[in-house]
Amino acid sequence: DAPDTLQPRPPVVTIMGHVDHGKTSLLDALRGTDVVRGEAGGITQHIGAYQVTLKDKSKVTFLDTPGHEAFTAMRARGADVTDIVVLVVAADDGLMPQTIEAINHTKAAGKPMIVAINKVDKHDANPQRIRERLLEHDVQVEAMGGETQDVEVSALKKTGLDTLIEKIQLQAELMELTANPDRPAEGSVVEAKLDKGRGPVATVLVTRGTLKVGDVFVIGAESGKVRALVDDKGRQMKTAGPSMPVEVLGMSGTPSAGDSLQVVESEARAREVAEYRQSVLLQKRTTQAPASLESMFSA
Ligand code: GTP
Ligand code: NA
Ligand code: MG
Repeated sequence: DAPDTLQPRPPVVTIMGHVDHGKTSLLDALRGTDVVRGEAGGITQHIGAYQVTLKDKSKVTFLDTPGHEAFTAMRARGADVTDIVVLVVAADDGLMPQTIEAINHTKAAGKPMIVAINKVDKHDANPQRIRERLLEHDVQVEAMGGETQDVEVSALKKTGLDTLIEKIQLQAELMELTANPDRPAEGSVVEAKLDKGRGPVATVLVTRGTLKVGDVFVIGAESGKVRALVDDKGRQMKTAGPSMPVEVLGMSGTPSAGDSLQVVESEARAREVAEYRQSVLLQKRTTQAPASLESMFSA
């Protein structure tokens, strides 16, 4: 896109950290919601995508990732579309395997990180110990002479949240995040599912352009025409611009997380691209078959 078509866009902030360190609770506190209570066993099973409007009317998009070991690939995908990572570390628990994994993902992806030291309301919370332990993983917060921002928060008591938001906004300002909203939309699938009532549903993060109801698109190896756009509060939208997470309805099948969406000029073109991608996928499966057969027999 030409520089004169670029406009500021909200930052995409991914919340990462060890299981039960309070990622979803922190987002709930920021959004004024209670997602944790609705989760089976209080375990996040998917990447949640939300947009929060701040007091100054600016917006921040948040992605919530699961902390459980089983979800490594999902966290890796989350790091892809991210501008800024907020690493949540429970001050009573310290640096744990998924904390370290999140630090490594963030570094590998070259994303700036803000450390949210959570659960500081607990009697055995020890934020200073967290700062010291972070040094062992080459994360130097300001108090330790480095440049990584950190903030003490309590998702439970809702303390430190304004400071966290300020640090996110400051980091975002430094990055001068822009996109052209006036072009055919492109986006990235955060998650997708086959809904009993609504058919295939994909949560898409729009990366550039503006997605509109009626737009024809390719999404992974599927094609579609936008039947409805639904925001994270369940509201029907007519359009979704850059950094907006939105549920897209109207696909031929269910895409996969990490797939890209592109708006194209015609339904014929959309079907053609989707069919080509289906054939490539099929070919991959066929050529991989002998290896998997072999492994079946040797097992
Ligand atoms: P996964 O998605 O399963 O990885 O967990 P999570 O990181 O999203 O943590 P979650 O928000 O589910 O919180 C885990 C537990 O910690 C819940 O029982 C929360 O109530 C509790 N918790 C979260 N934040 C705080 C906090 O600031 N203080 C205290 N005391 N408890 C908290
Ligand atoms: Na949890
Ligand atoms: Mg969670």
